[in-house]
Amino acid sequence: MNLKIAVLPGDGIGPEISEQGVAVMTAVCKKFGHTVTYEYALCGADAIDKVVDPFPEETFQTCMRADAVLFSAVGDPKYDNDPTSPVRPEQGLLAMRKRLGLYANIRPIETFDCLLHKSPLKDELVRGADFICIRELTGGMYFGEKYQDNDKAYDTNFYSRPEIERILRVGYDYARRRKKHLTVVDKANVLASSRLWRQIAKEMAVLNPDVLTDFMFVDNASMRMVQEPTFFDVIVTENTFGDILTDEGSCITGSMGLLPSASTGEHTPVFEPVHGSWPQAKGQNIANPLAQILSVAMLFEHFNLDAEGRLIREAVSASLNKKIRTPEIQVEGGAHYGTREVGAWIVDYINAV
Ligand code: IPM
Ligand code: MN
Repeated sequence: MNLKIAVLPGDGIGPEISEQGVAVMTAVCKKFGHTVTYEYALCGADAIDKVVDPFPEETFQTCMRADAVLFSAVGDPKYDNDPTSPVRPEQGLLAMRKRLGLYANIRPIETFDCLLHKSPLKDELVRGADFICIRELTGGMYFGEKYQDNDKAYDTNFYSRPEIERILRVGYDYARRRKKHLTVVDKANVLASSRLWRQIAKEMAVLNPDVLTDFMFVDNASMRMVQEPTFFDVIVTENTFGDILTDEGSCITGSMGLLPSASTGEHTPVFEPVHGSWPQAKGQNIANPLAQILSVAMLFEHFNLDAEGRLIREAVSASLNKKIRTPEIQVEGGAHYGTREVGAWIVDYINAV
């Protein structure tokens, strides 16, 4: 296969983990006889500094020309601490989602047995937890009509039938390939938008009798996620609830630095770590590259290149088991491995098998 990849390293630790993702991608392509080319583009604070736009037109065009986008992270404290700043790095991420029509954000919550002790939950609660959160990504309060003056402000949680139907279809597709259990998370006891979600989901449940569909209010779902995370198989929910629940989900595994994600929709799909730009660690060679590397696995799998994805997952598990780990998950007394060393070990593993 010929793969054309747009690489968007972004801010903070972004460029360092991006480099490892690209190295792994190159090694896997070489092994399996694929040709890959990379085109780099600006985004986030880096793009604001250079061209005063967090998602420049040129970056959009680069993404549109590519088969997939390998994205790292955006965000910089100098904007977080300045609410008056007219432009912010996060707007770049939102613009990318909207312009590429990336309405489905897939966030798998997987645990690694050797890291269970890092979870804030008891081992026996979190062991075996393995679910996917499908977050609607281009609608709801993030993009609905907004207003703000000195005395009042609002955001509109707008959803239309086609937006709800298409994300539920993604939910059913995933559930069908997994344990056939779809949980629709909403707040239908209070919100009109949620009542429409529930109404449409009930219609679709009838059309998908092979999948068990259940409904849960978001407050209850957030509780269930820490009480019994193994209950879930596939969750589908709106943009804002998905944002909140996926942070909660990612931390129960004990290792946010290991969680990848995919965003798919109308145009080029984007693969990125769930974690952010961790500006304090920038340039220190301590950031965990595994979420980015696992995003590359998701990228291959998106194109049905399952053996390629599997090899990356195998290499990542091997590195964890051999304690080739970045400091935040290293065992006491374990050797020091940085971002580059972990990446290089995984590349060597891939080359050697
Ligand atoms: C995420 C992030 C973004 C979001 C921010 C950075 C705009 O938190 O991808 O979950 O809220 O969607
Ligand atoms: Mn978030």
